[in-house]
Amino acid sequence: MTGPLLLPLPGAEALAARIAKACGFACGALDTRRFPDREHYVRLAFDPRGRNVIIVGDLPGPDDRFITLAFVADALRELGASHVGLVAPYLGYLRQDARFKPGEAVSSRSFARLVSGLVDDLVTIDPHLHRIGGLEAIYTIPTLVVHAAPLIGRWIAREIRHPLVVGPDAESRQWATEIASHAGAPCVILEKQRLGDREVRIQLPDLAPFRGLQPVVVDDIASSGRTLVAACAALETEGFPRAVCAVVHALFADQALAGLAGAAARVVSTDTISHPTNAIPISPLIAAALTEQAVP
Ligand code: R5P
Repeated sequence: MTGPLLLPLPGAEALAARIAKACGFACGALDTRRFPDREHYVRLAFDPRGRNVIIVGDLPGPDDRFITLAFVADALRELGASHVGLVAPYLGYLRQDARFKPGEAVSSRSFARLVSGLVDDLVTIDPHLHRIGGLEAIYTIPTLVVHAAPLIGRWIAREIRHPLVVGPDAESRQWATEIASHAGAPCVILEKQRLGDREVRIQLPDLAPFRGLQPVVVDDIASSGRTLVAACAALETEGFPRAVCAVVHALFADQALAGLAGAAARVVSTDTISHPTNAIPISPLIAAALTEQAVP
């Protein structure tokens, strides 16, 4: 019997190879290019008949990759794949999960419906869930959520002397406390007020008991980077050493990383999104999830 085949979307080849190595699965390949008018051309460079194919690709700024995903998933089905799964280490379009102003599109729901129509199941890492309790509220296919907290916690324990894990806002409490427990470090949660897409205000609680520790600001996502910059600046003003930042999903839009250069001592991320800050590989987590749930 032939085992599952991992199929990387463009840009995810290295990650898929690491996952494949950890699982003992094979990798398939795509032939992709653009027509002169920029439309996408996709060809499967293997025969998917009867195969369990797991597409691997993060979906940041997902519009472009979504089209490729749609073409690949349809081609797999039409050409006889027995199962089409998706590993999206970063899953986009979770921010707009409600209609805050009249007339707004609830894009998280629409995107979930589109993805649910393409693949049989989905594995992802730390999705950015706020007002919805779980992916099952918007996805109609089976979903499996894997958490990067143990890996980040162990990285902190290995790399940082006398760490203090800092969650920059109330939402971060869920992962900051778990990261701290894996790091064997104390944890504090700050208060954040978002004033705009690129403007946040941070308030610190009483940090006197933690003087002398090295702050490590942890978050699920760095997008504009303003949350990390504000948290680092507030901690430094209080007399702490310049903070280290560790995030799961390194989106870092535009000049976000440059903006952090003067505020953080070091910035690291997991490799859910390929980025120069990647220092914590998540392939072992995905491999464990896939080998537990692999469909032969
Ligand atoms: C917010 O709730 C999230 O956990 C992150 O703190 C936020 O998305 C970071 O965004 P930015 O980098 O734009 O401040």
